[in-house]
Amino acid sequence: MKLFLDSANLQDIEEALQGGFIRGVTTNPSLLAKEPKGSYVGHAQKIIELIQKHGENLSLSVEVFTNDQKEMISQAKDFVKQLNYKQLAIKIPVSYKGQSNLNVMRELTSEGIIVNCTAAMTPLQLMMAAASGAKYVSLFYNRLRDAENEETYKAEREALIKNKVVEEADYDPNKVLHETVPLLMDYPDSEIIVGSIRTVLDVKESALAGGHIVTASLKILKDALMHFKTDDSVDKFLKDFESWIK
Ligand code: E4P
Repeated sequence: MKLFLDSANLQDIEEALQGGFIRGVTTNPSLLAKEPKGSYVGHAQKIIELIQKHGENLSLSVEVFTNDQKEMISQAKDFVKQLNYKQLAIKIPVSYKGQSNLNVMRELTSEGIIVNCTAAMTPLQLMMAAASGAKYVSLFYNRLRDAENEETYKAEREALIKNKVVEEADYDPNKVLHETVPLLMDYPDSEIIVGSIRTVLDVKESALAGGHIVTASLKILKDALMHFKTDDSVDKFLKDFESWIK
């Protein structure tokens, strides 16, 4: 498996780059909005400069910020032109209120642009995006889990079940990942990115369920390294050595 950093924060990105354990960075408009106001492309450029400063050639995902398909295509092309970075992936939401965006993904991939299909919740969304040429297909792990109980979407949830689009168990993101893996077998160039990660256990469980890449915050990735028995062992080594050297 590979780890990506889910962040637009330059300090966090630099720290993760120094650690050398990430193979990519994913951003989205909400993550960008947490950073000081400025130019969207300009901020992405700063991320690329950091990646290059550390001698890396990591994947960077930048998302379009419109639901209009013509604008998506022109924003995507504009990002590609201005950023001029080989590993740039453009995030396109799989669909929006009755509109499929697979045609957008197809157009972009046919022009050699790397696409990260984002905001997917089901195995078929992920598989169909891969079939349309998306190099990365992103499952939103905990947002899917949230959907099982959100009062706001009660009617939508019931409609999906009534129309046999999904069943109750399809709000379990781990099951969704297990089911996606065989569906993607015909699209070996596509990789599943698992996003919307909230705990260290999510990282492990989603990778073991078949996620090729897990993208998470720096805090979660650093928490994955901490263990009280590691600290205890280190303390004991140093203590034993201290008494020996005296
Ligand atoms: C993935 O590419 C997304 O940026 C992200 O993981 C969304 O997660 P969130 O639910 O923590 O916002």
